[in-house]
Amino acid sequence: MPIVLIGFRASGKTALGKRAAKILNLPFLDLDEVFVEKFGDIRKFIKKRNWQEFRQREAQILQNFAGFSGIISTGGGIIELPENREFLKKNKTIFIDIPLSELISRLCQKKNKRPRLNEKVDLETEIREKFKDRLPLYKNSAKFTFYPDINLSKDENSAKLAEFILNLQ
Ligand code: S3P
Repeated sequence: MPIVLIGFRASGKTALGKRAAKILNLPFLDLDEVFVEKFGDIRKFIKKRNWQEFRQREAQILQNFAGFSGIISTGGGIIELPENREFLKKNKTIFIDIPLSELISRLCQKKNKRPRLNEKVDLETEIREKFKDRLPLYKNSAKFTFYPDINLSKDENSAKLAEFILNLQ
């Protein structure tokens, strides 16, 4: 059964997950990377196609790894489709919980890295609105919650995450 990391954009799912997997000697998989390998750059895909197609492909990729025995990091919108939420509830899913103010500061520093979720509003409003919509879905889909300490380094938080995973029931 996979250990699945979920959380908002820039919460550190990939950075912490990759390092924790290394510490625990577990295989690691990043769903966004699998998407890019199969279908190319996500921003370009959304521009050419649309979010709905992205979500469908993302869901197929997630289902393909139901038997993966390692750590999977997901994209921030994985909780948008009900079938994905069902998948998450059946697995060892960990919500990486980072305060909204920290997410805003991280995402506003790396402005053009990710496709906009709502181009009609400014970036900070987009983040606030999506966070409000998604927070209950993350909480509801995950059996466990991990709170990184934003004052610690990535390596220190990854070591804590590895320990957290070791203690999972
Ligand atoms: C998305 C987050 C991205 C990526 C895609 C959609 C989202 O992943 O899957 O751009 O809907 O929030 P990260 O959470 O790794 O940025």
